[in-house]
Amino acid sequence: MKTTTEFMKMKKENNKIIMLTAYDYPSAKLAENAGVEILLVGDSLGMVVLGYDSTVQVTLEDMIHHGKATRRGAPDTFVVVDMPFGTYHGSLDTTLTNAIRLFQETNAQALKIEGADEVIDVIRLLSRTGIPVVAHLGLLPQSASVSGGYKVQGKTAQAAQKLIEDALACEAAGAFMVVLECIPYQLGKTITETLSIPVIGIGAGAETDGQVLVFHDTVTYGSHHMPKFVKAFSQAGKEISAGLVQYVEEVKTGEFPSVEHRFTMKDDEYQQLYG
Ligand code: KIV
Ligand code: NA
Repeated sequence: MKTTTEFMKMKKENNKIIMLTAYDYPSAKLAENAGVEILLVGDSLGMVVLGYDSTVQVTLEDMIHHGKATRRGAPDTFVVVDMPFGTYHGSLDTTLTNAIRLFQETNAQALKIEGADEVIDVIRLLSRTGIPVVAHLGLLPQSASVSGGYKVQGKTAQAAQKLIEDALACEAAGAFMVVLECIPYQLGKTITETLSIPVIGIGAGAETDGQVLVFHDTVTYGSHHMPKFVKAFSQAGKEISAGLVQYVEEVKTGEFPSVEHRFTMKDDEYQQLYG
């Protein structure tokens, strides 16, 4: 398993860091076997796996449940778990209680939180407590209903300047890594060069220290919206659908199960039964 120190070294050596979301045992196992270096149990869980229409409905219990399954599937991979909506905006006491529970019960290596200004104190508190923190800036799904939806962030000079300052503030508060979502590539490059901690991008260009994508987007599994910054590396959903259609057909027609799938009783035993 890689360590936070090794991720720092990778940034210095321009060795790209590979992050991917995972939500359960099989996705974690597949990702670990493929060589993914950081698994993110993202609250995208809500949309991708649980069928909610935003990340806002995801609870601490949901994250613990899926974090544990991910850990079991990838025992040798660095796991980051998202703190879900509403679990780190109350008092610092409540925030710390929630964070410790999530960190301990999932046996993760780090927690991720969205934003800067109002959560700088949280980043500082968790880091000092011994919980490594990944900051998340740019498009922030947990507050998209207030900020105006899922749009590219930091497009004006002023907005870009604010993001650079936010990233520096997260680093100063103790974050060991930053995720940048949905920003112009020039800004992704600038923030990556400005910070001394690794910067992982999603829709932030090729110049960041690493990339993160949503598991289901990467392999095209599920029926959710695919943003512009996603690349489909395989067509798992189509494969699965084709297999299921075949299953339905073969049971209907009697083609499945065939002799090779059945169990057999010895003839004499069968005779005795009817003695
Ligand atoms: O929840 C998630 O999947 C994320 C990534 C998009 C970074 O936070
Ligand atoms: Na998230």
